[in-house]
Amino acid sequence: ELSPIDKAKFVAAKRSVDFVEHGMRVGLGTGSTAAWMVRCLGEMVREDGLKIKGVPTSTRTAQLAREVGIEVISLDEAKWLDLTIDGADEFDGDLNLIKGGGGALLQEKIVATASDQMIVIADIGKQVDHLGAFPLPVEVIPFGWQTTQALVEETLISMDVLGRNSTLRMNGARPFVTDEGNYILDLHLNRIGEARQLAMVLNQMPGVVENGLFIDICDSVIVGYGDGRVEVRD
Ligand code: A5P
Repeated sequence: ELSPIDKAKFVAAKRSVDFVEHGMRVGLGTGSTAAWMVRCLGEMVREDGLKIKGVPTSTRTAQLAREVGIEVISLDEAKWLDLTIDGADEFDGDLNLIKGGGGALLQEKIVATASDQMIVIADIGKQVDHLGAFPLPVEVIPFGWQTTQALVEETLISMDVLGRNSTLRMNGARPFVTDEGNYILDLHLNRIGEARQLAMVLNQMPGVVENGLFIDICDSVIVGYGDGRVEVRD
């Protein structure tokens, strides 16, 4: 028996696979919601003979996709994707997102950007009026990360955000390391006014690899509720 939140994630994931068609190259997101979607797709491959090629956005998702029987190829083999389905940590009324709670934002953004369409699957708890309550993940190069952190915090002073402190994401006693061998700074902003500008400014800093703001990338959000209802926003 699923908890209401897991039920909400599951029903959103279940609906999203209706958009997957025979022969598609599909970007496979990361996180607990995306994992439901990968399992649903695996079932369609095994039981309905659906033929697709999947491009995973993390080593975790690659492993799960193989386990459930999806053919996995690299993004370079696929070159371009028909559709990416992924979770999110927050989405707003313009379908802009914060992603990276699971630490996979870099591959997720590359894959989503290389897709004709990006569908986000999320429980209703991820919907916000203004992005920023969820800490914004920023992937940084380990070299000089404290200098990069200081530069980021200094830059935030001139931006339209309420909070400006940041924390290095940890994995026990050590820094959390991404699939690309980088670190993650979580920016505690509370409320982001100019998300588009913030995303650009962050990515201009030398030590910053990518940030978790997805602006104008998502085409639709499939929202799941704990009682099993689903709504599509686009
Ligand atoms: C992974 O890096 C994130 O972008 C996820 O998409 C996000 O954290 C959503 O995860 P859940 O589906 O587990 O909430």
